[in-house]
Parts: sequence; C-alpha cells; structure tokens
Amino acid sequence: MLPNLQIVNAPLPSPAALLVPLLTNNLAPALAALAQLVGVDAAVLQADFKAKANEVLGLYPPANQGGLPAKVLLLGLGDQASPTSFRKAVRQAAFQQKAKLGERWALDLGTFSNLNTLEDRELATLAGAGVQAALLAQYDIAKFKTEGKEPSPALTEVAVIVPPAAQALAQTQLAKATALAQAQLRAFDLVNLPGNHLNALQLAQAAQQAGAEAGFQVRVLYKAEIEAEGMGGLLAINQGSVIPPTFIIMEHRPANLPADAPKVGLAGKGVTFDTGGISIKPSDNMGWMKSDMGGAAAVIGAMEVAARLQLPVHLVAVVPATDNKPDGNAIEPGDIVRTYNGLTIEIEDTDAEGRVILADALGYLTKNYQLDTIIDLATLTGACIVALGYHAAGLFSSGDELAAALEQAGQRSGERVWRLPLWDDYAPQIKSDMADVKNLGGRPGGAITAAKFLERFTAKHPAWAHLDIAGTAFSDSPYAGQRSSTAFGVALLAEYLLGLAKMAK
Ligand code: BES
Ligand code: MN
Ligand code: ZN
Repeated sequence: MLPNLQIVNAPLPSPAALLVPLLTNNLAPALAALAQLVGVDAAVLQADFKAKANEVLGLYPPANQGGLPAKVLLLGLGDQASPTSFRKAVRQAAFQQKAKLGERWALDLGTFSNLNTLEDRELATLAGAGVQAALLAQYDIAKFKTEGKEPSPALTEVAVIVPPAAQALAQTQLAKATALAQAQLRAFDLVNLPGNHLNALQLAQAAQQAGAEAGFQVRVLYKAEIEAEGMGGLLAINQGSVIPPTFIIMEHRPANLPADAPKVGLAGKGVTFDTGGISIKPSDNMGWMKSDMGGAAAVIGAMEVAARLQLPVHLVAVVPATDNKPDGNAIEPGDIVRTYNGLTIEIEDTDAEGRVILADALGYLTKNYQLDTIIDLATLTGACIVALGYHAAGLFSSGDELAAALEQAGQRSGERVWRLPLWDDYAPQIKSDMADVKNLGGRPGGAITAAKFLERFTAKHPAWAHLDIAGTAFSDSPYAGQRSSTAFGVALLAEYLLGLAKMAK
C-alpha cells in the first residue's frame, strides 16, 4: 500500500517528523534561523552540523514552537543538489532513519532548507526525487525472514513542503515519482527473487500482474506456441531445464493515440537463473545469476510507468524467459540452432545464452512490428563489467540520435550509460564456418562482439540500441548487506519515454 503523498506548504503537525535537507553553501543563516526557533545556541549548532553528505542531526523543539513538529532531522547534502545526489541522500536518510522518521514525515524544501533559493522547476524536480526516495527506502528485502525482523513503522504519509509558486509543478513531479517508484519496487523484487521463486512461468505471471495493476496488455506464449513460432534460440537454451520457457509480449497503446505517435519496441533478457549450462560457471558467486533477468525487470518496469502515466507512445515489449541449466537434454557446444527469423547460430559456449534468446526476441520485434525505435536491455556480459565497472551500462546503438537521447536520459535519471562501438572490425570474431553466426567472440571486446551478434537479428534497424546492464542491475548498496537489485533501466527508460512523449505533444 502506498502512503498518502502530498505537496504542502507547512510542516505536518505532531506527531510527525520534519526532514530538512541542507547544502554546505549558505548553511550558517539557515542554521541560525533553526537555532532560534528550536531554542538552542546558533554557534553550537553550527559547530555540530556541517551538512556533509549523509550527515544527520536530530533537533527536538519544545512543544508548539513556530509550527514545528516535535522532531526535526537535519540532513547534510554536501555541496550538491542535483536530482541524482538529492535522491540518493534522501533515500539513504529515509532508509537509515526509518525508526526516527516514523509513520508520517515531511520533507522540507521551502521553509528551513537552504535549497529554497532554487528555481521553481528545480525545486519541483527535487520534490519528485524526494518522494521517489522515500518510497524506495521502504523496500523490504527480508521478505523470507520468519524471525529476528525488527518491526519498522509502516509509512502512512509523506509530505513535501515547497514554496507556493512551485507547487503545481511539484504536483506533476509527484505523479511521475510515484509511478516510477512503484515500478522500481516491483523490479527490486523480481531481480532479488531467487530461481526457485521466480522461474519462467512465474516471471510471466508477474508480468501479467503488473499489466493488470498498471493497465497494459500482456500475452504469454507457452512452450507449444514458442515451438509453433519457431523460436529455436529460446527453445535451445531451455532444453536442459525442467521448467518450460515463456515468451512474454506486452503492449501499451493508450486510447486516442495520434497516428504519428512514436512506436517503441523493447526487449529484456529473462534468464531466471544462469548456471552456464554445459559450459558451466564456477560455483563462486553463482547465486548472483538469479539476477540474470534484470533486463526483463527493466522493460516490465518501463511498461508500468508508461501505463500509469498514460504516456502518449505506443510500446511493445517482449521478454524471452527461461533458466539456463545443464542436463542430459541440454544443448552442447557445437550445436547449431535455427532462430525465429531463420538465421542459424553455432553454439560455441552454452554460457553465452542471453544473446541466443534475444535473437528470437529481436527477430520477433523486427518481423512483426514497424517500430521507430528498438531498445534491448540485458545482463549480457562479464566483459562489460571489465570495461565499465559498476557505474555505467554499456550502450551500443545503430543511431546517433537514439544514443544521444539515451545518454541524456541516463544523466537525468542517474542511470548512466556509456557508448561503445559497433564497428564491423569486430564482426569476424563471431563468424562461424557452418552457421550464419556463432555465439562466442573470444575475450577481446567481449561486450562489443555480443552486441555485434545481437545486431545480426535487428534487420539493420537504423534506431536500435542495446544496453548491457551486467554491471549495473545487481550490486552493492547501502540498502543491503549482500548484492541486490538496483532496478537499473526502469528510471532510464522512463526518462527516455517521457522525453519522447514531450516531443510528440
Ligand atoms: N549472465 C552472464 C553475464 C553476467 C556476468 C551478468 C556477470 C552479470 C554479471 C552471461 O550469460 C554470461 O555468462 N556471459 C559470459 C559470456 C561468455 C561465455 C562469452 C561471460 O560474460 O562470461
Ligand atoms: Mn551465461
Ligand atoms: Zn546470462
């Protein structure tokens, strides 16, 4: 259940808490004003609170003091107020101070915070980022714990205080932030769920549930239909599994959509667990491979945001889903399979499975729809992590305009992408003697040869982008002791689609 979310112009009455974000710049006067109201010595407060990033200090004003609630938490932002740094700071504070903030709290961007000098548009953006952060901070990763869980108060109300002139804008941002956070919370669960709680059938059910809740269409192809359609890539990777594959097709097409509205195709890798198959992975950290459907989670999330906000774009998203397991029926290195669009693949390594199932997905999109743009997301290669680490996804694109739009959406959302080349010089590495292409390109430029492989299945589409999210979908964070889902891609795609929708209007 979502808490009550609102834009207001005064602190909430007690019992509630007020979170006051503060920049280092122009801190002294802001603290002096607070000190006076709360009845503490300004110099002492200034000595004890420097507004360093993530610094938190609690103040407890006497009852009925200047309309202040009984509890005020100051939050340091350092010297930055970008939406990304602000979202991070508020999310971390809301997460770590959950017990102190309690069931109802307000985020102050208008009264005591020294952010109140920002322009209305910027303040409204921060209001949205603050609400998104507050919602994400409520995520409960310990869903399977039966004991030792510290009960935390359910958040019932979050208000953001903004100056009157920024309130209308902030209201719009609040709607976006809420839709985005809902989709991200779902993606957290999907990626964190282990293979025995989220197999290909359950992933399809989860997509159907998202569609029912957010309002988009979902159609699932089961094994017999996948066979009838000739999706030989997905079937090959699924051969060693006891769970049949699914091919999930989602569509968002709002009523009264103008004929010239942008038409975007999405594809997400939905490997619910990747053992590597016969080319089996070493067992160290193999458990991380429950996150190998991070691309699927991202596109389901993007569908959810588009539907909740009724964005004026036509979206089609597909997810080929299966696990990748070794058994007596499993595909072997050397096997040759025929994919949906007729191209054949020599399987040189069964652990390079993502590209094989995405071949069918991209073939399906290009054969059945006239799309202006195609974007696929996949936890595709360890090589992409070697290239970019954990701080940016690899971006590969056949179109410069699309690449630029995704780079900009990455900056805005904080989910950054970095473009890598798709030069034909890399193509010989995936040349097969017997088949049209092979699924292994060797160590040099492993993320690039994977992208070159996918490119073969895009029918030379001039506006296709591939995002390798292997390093960004599942990582260390302040919100969990082990690696966990970041929901990477949901905010990036949402920002990209919001940009398209704006241009379309
Ligand atoms: N799912 C993995 C890629 C991956 C690695 C994602 C680490 C997240 C973290 C993918 O299916 C895979 O196994 N890729 C191989 C490809 C290789 C065999 C060409 C890899 O990266 O080692
Ligand atoms: Mn693999
Ligand atoms: Zn994989």
